[in-house]
Amino acid sequence: MSKVVVVDHPLVQHKLTLMRDKDCGNKDFRELLEEISMLMAYEVTRNLPLEEVEIETPVAKCKSKIIAGKKLGIVPILRAGLGMVDGVMNLVPTAKVGHIGLYRDPETHMPVEYYCKLPYDVDERDLIVVDPMLATGGSAIAAIDFIKKRGCKSVTLMCLVGCPEGVKAVQEAHPDVDLYIAAIDDHLNEHKYIVPGLGDAGDRLFGTK
Ligand code: PRP
Ligand code: URA
Repeated sequence: MSKVVVVDHPLVQHKLTLMRDKDCGNKDFRELLEEISMLMAYEVTRNLPLEEVEIETPVAKCKSKIIAGKKLGIVPILRAGLGMVDGVMNLVPTAKVGHIGLYRDPETHMPVEYYCKLPYDVDERDLIVVDPMLATGGSAIAAIDFIKKRGCKSVTLMCLVGCPEGVKAVQEAHPDVDLYIAAIDDHLNEHKYIVPGLGDAGDRLFGTK
């Protein structure tokens, strides 16, 4: 069974509270999401494997550590996942970025695909799928399905706010995928919105409502 890590760092929790507030404007919402994404990426990358290399400092030769193993990729689920890319890229500037376009059908709440462009060597990378909201889990599950179909075997999901229903659905569909999340809220309402949540992440990020 996969790991679920609630990133309870005080800075993450403080910034998330500011984002939840209905009076938080688009600019602040965008900046806070980027800041939180960087802090969360620090946790997601905590266990990256290291290897020793020999280097020469201005004073002496020594052995020192660098990151080993597979290269990273970031895959935002459009639209709202875009708001998390720069935060992760601040820490991992050489990561390649793929995009998966999905929206929830307003009636059925099922994900509908409209775009998918992934790095050509996706099967050789550790991918971090980013999306602020994990509601029914349908979008995250569909995105991870696409990625696995392209041959990728190592996926981590990074979300901001989820709910027990979404966490359970992802764990059941993809038991090999670890989830990093800042908060697991109470429940989904009749419109499949997270309660208390923060509303529609895409609209708040891009000012479309
Ligand atoms: C939101 C959110 C997730 C999805 C979560 O996107 O960013 O992708 O809903 O819901 P789920 O877990 O029930 O699938 P939305 O479909 O509203 O698209 P948008 O980002 O373009 O607004
Ligand atoms: N998508 C969002 O943006 N917010 C929710 O609460 C659920 C789905």
